Amino acid sequence: MHDVTRPAPWTGSAAPGGKLALFRDLAEELDALLTGEPDAIANAANAAAAIYHSLPRLNWAGFYFLRNDTLVLGPFQGRPACVRIALGAGVCGTAARDRRSILVPDVEAFPGHIACDSASRSELVVPLIDGGRLLGVLDLDSPDLARFDAEDQAGCEALAAIVTRHLARAAIF
Ligand code: SME
Repeated sequence: MHDVTRPAPWTGSAAPGGKLALFRDLAEELDALLTGEPDAIANAANAAAAIYHSLPRLNWAGFYFLRNDTLVLGPFQGRPACVRIALGAGVCGTAARDRRSILVPDVEAFPGHIACDSASRSELVVPLIDGGRLLGVLDLDSPDLARFDAEDQAGCEALAAIVTRHLARAAIF
């Protein structure tokens, strides 16, 4: 039985077809939303809004983009956030430096976690990588402990791949 002292990850059981169906539908929606628009800021803004309003139990969803070896805040939904994060710093900088997704069940247990919103309890960061080139990261925060699981990670990696494909040719990169 689930340990009642730790909230369960979101199972998606309330969504028709469950969590996998929701990620599949969101991926399709995102691809359609970004198709035909070349502006990276517009596309990242719409992607952040679509993700924030589609996935439950989030208090922040958005992007940091790589600018001269520093992650700089991009379009997001949620409270104002720290603007610059060095590679290797916090969850975002670690995911960017190591070019791998990082799932943090309890942000207070992650050494160096950068607290932008004191409400955040768990976090998922996915790097945006275009053929070996790091564009930035997708960052999701939740006010619930252990909000994200491996299915969320796989789902968000698929979303990040779609966003990356639409952003990669933009002039700002
Ligand atoms: N918590 C992140 C910083 C970004 S905010 O969550 C939006 C980190 O430790 O990198």
